Amino acid sequence: MLEAKSKPVILIRDLDSFEDLSQVGAVEKEVWGLADHDVIPMTITIATKAAGSIWLGAFDGAKLAGFAFAFPGLEHGQLMLHSHMLAVRDAYRDSDLGFKLKLGQRERALALRIQEMTWTFDPLQSKNAHFNFAKLGVVSDTYKIDFYGPETSSVLHRNSTDRLWVRWAMTSRRVQQRLQGKDQRSEIMDTLSRLTPLIRFNGDGKPVKTDLETALGRQRIAIEIPSDIATVEQKDLALAREWRLATRWAFTEALKAGFFVAEFCRTVRGQQGPGTYVLEKGALEEYMPELARGAIDAR
Ligand SMILES: CC(C)(COP(=O)(O)OP(=O)(O)OC[C@H]1O[C@@H](n2cnc3c(N)ncnc32)[C@H](O)[C@@H]1OP(=O)(O)O)[C@@H](O)C(=O)NCCC(=O)NCCS
Repeated sequence: MLEAKSKPVILIRDLDSFEDLSQVGAVEKEVWGLADHDVIPMTITIATKAAGSIWLGAFDGAKLAGFAFAFPGLEHGQLMLHSHMLAVRDAYRDSDLGFKLKLGQRERALALRIQEMTWTFDPLQSKNAHFNFAKLGVVSDTYKIDFYGPETSSVLHRNSTDRLWVRWAMTSRRVQQRLQGKDQRSEIMDTLSRLTPLIRFNGDGKPVKTDLETALGRQRIAIEIPSDIATVEQKDLALAREWRLATRWAFTEALKAGFFVAEFCRTVRGQQGPGTYVLEKGALEEYMPELARGAIDAR
């Protein structure tokens, strides 16, 4: 598939040759600042490729501008794809390449008759939250504390490695609408201004907790996050840590009480303001019947 954007022309295609796959490490190092011991070893790259994992690249000529890696796994006992890595080099961001790599993964998954994809992301990263919930239409009912351990060599893993485990029901109406750029969230956006967030971004950039019992009694909960946690981490790691602990508390309490994460809206109080997660009370599988359900939970 040839991507005819103004310039450069980027080609989304499978990573096929040894030369293709051997470029992945350099992108990992650039995007996450990984040390050698945290980069995927070539032997694993080659073995996963040979065993049926999906390795997709975005190419600027011969140069790998970004990639996506997904391996087969089980979700509630059913075959799915777990997307372990998605990365776009800084110079190529915000041009829909990440989106096109996800579309490529989806196309290949559906050709294999796999309808669900999972992945994880740091819920404090507002860009990823927007990308995952608003652009792609994921949902989540699982929060993982220190998923990769307390830290790794990644520059994105300094403030612990908590993750939301997200599920992408690739043939669902919701996902198809999001992929067509249709935003069906006006009802939620309207109610946001009337909700008292469980965690609120206050005037001086600190997280403020509100009453848990009152929040849990409602049908809908909001959790706010800063618009740019990377800058907070650079300027004030203690404050970034406060955000981690506050949001960890809010997500785990709400999910434990039977809520799931339905949406993320990136601005609630103007451009410089925080972003907001919206959690709904109820069973995720009822909200989205296309999701795998079953007695076996591989996690
Ligand atoms: C996540 C990543 C792959 C996205 O790649 P990309 O090519 O920039 O993605 P896209 O251009 O398709 O989409 C980016 C979206 O984020 C939006 N965005 C950019 N900066 C943002 C910010 N600070 N806050 C909120 N949204 C932001 C863009 O506007 C765009 O959304 P829009 O099309 O609705 O306007 C890339 O940022 C990356 O490699 N990040 C580091 C590694 C990582 O986090 N991997 C993913 C883990 S889930």
